[in-house]
Amino acid sequence: MKAVVYTQYGSPDVLQLKEVAKPTPTDDEVLIKIEAVSVNRSDWEGLIGKPLYARIGGLLKPRRQVLGSDIAGRVEMVGRNIKRLKPGDEVFGDIMAQMGGFAEYVCVREKPLALKPASMTFEEVAALPQAAVIALQGIRDKGQVQPGQQVLINGAGGGAGTFAVQLAKSYGAEVTGVDNTGKLDFMRSLGADHVIDYTREDFTKNGKQYDLILDLIAHRSVFAYRRALRPTGRYFFVGGSVATLFQILLLGPLIRRTTGKNIRLLAVQPNLNDLVNVTELCEAGKLFPVIDRRFPLHEVPEALRYLGEGSARGKVIITLEQSDQ
Ligand SMILES: NC(=O)c1ccc[n+]([C@@H]2O[C@H](COP(=O)([O-])OP(=O)(O)OC[C@H]3O[C@@H](n4cnc5c(N)ncnc54)[C@H](OP(=O)(O)O)[C@@H]3O)[C@@H](O)[C@H]2O)c1
Repeated sequence: MKAVVYTQYGSPDVLQLKEVAKPTPTDDEVLIKIEAVSVNRSDWEGLIGKPLYARIGGLLKPRRQVLGSDIAGRVEMVGRNIKRLKPGDEVFGDIMAQMGGFAEYVCVREKPLALKPASMTFEEVAALPQAAVIALQGIRDKGQVQPGQQVLINGAGGGAGTFAVQLAKSYGAEVTGVDNTGKLDFMRSLGADHVIDYTREDFTKNGKQYDLILDLIAHRSVFAYRRALRPTGRYFFVGGSVATLFQILLLGPLIRRTTGKNIRLLAVQPNLNDLVNVTELCEAGKLFPVIDRRFPLHEVPEALRYLGEGSARGKVIITLEQSDQ
């Protein structure tokens, strides 16, 4: 089968399309023929090896040689202990714990896989797992957004941000989206009430305060976030610099005790219920995946470059239904 392989951290140039052995499922795995897989910032971080947490398990060389975590495809074969899925089922899910989605086939346990609703395409469901679940857990579960609250989403024009803006609006919040100059109209089109261009304005220095800040790309000091929160506000670090991450771990509890402002990390827990919830929201027309561009498998390097170098609006999808098969 074809797979996009890398053996060292670096630019998209280190990725190679190769012929590798088609995997065989163990008793506890299913073999998936991949139809679509989305590109996440976590793939980009795994490619370049930055921030440092992207090297967990592989400090000098990547632990996994095939990136790609948000897969959608058909079950081709099942192991002996598989109870829930059968050959022919159309499924999707986040396989971030093992990766391997930038390939024609992958073997995975059945636990992270949900059934694809008939009303959605493989590309649409591939856009959901990581990005929409980050948004769901950040806005609904941890953020507990209420009508009328002020919500700021930093990185609102990217994969998770586009879902977070839609969800926060659906809970009745007044939403501020922060992203680059080229994405301001795009964030408005998703429903953002206010937009901030991060290349021109620092949202922690304009005197405004928020009930919830969902930070998809954090790099400021913890004190800047404290300043931008209302007295009982919540801030969640989803991804960003290691320096900010450590500050939040060390100083977040102290800030909570002394000010009541809640500054924490959001460690996303992939689970089937949330995947089903987001597909139900999509089917009900309350949430929609925004697919910016599609690339065939052999153009995974271009797709990652497009996302990593800052052009993508919403999701970038690798589709295997195109020229690779
Ligand atoms: N906590 C967890 O459990 C967990 C799990 C999975 C993933 N993650 C993290 O979740 C995040 C999700 O990202 P994603 O997939 O939505 O990424 P994405 O699609 O790349 O979106 C990120 C957006 O942020 C923008 N941006 C870049 N620098 C910015 C800045 N300084 N201020 C404001 N916006 C900026 C980007 O725009 P440009 O075009 O200008 O770059 C892009 O539009 C990643 O950081 C990933 O590591 C966390």
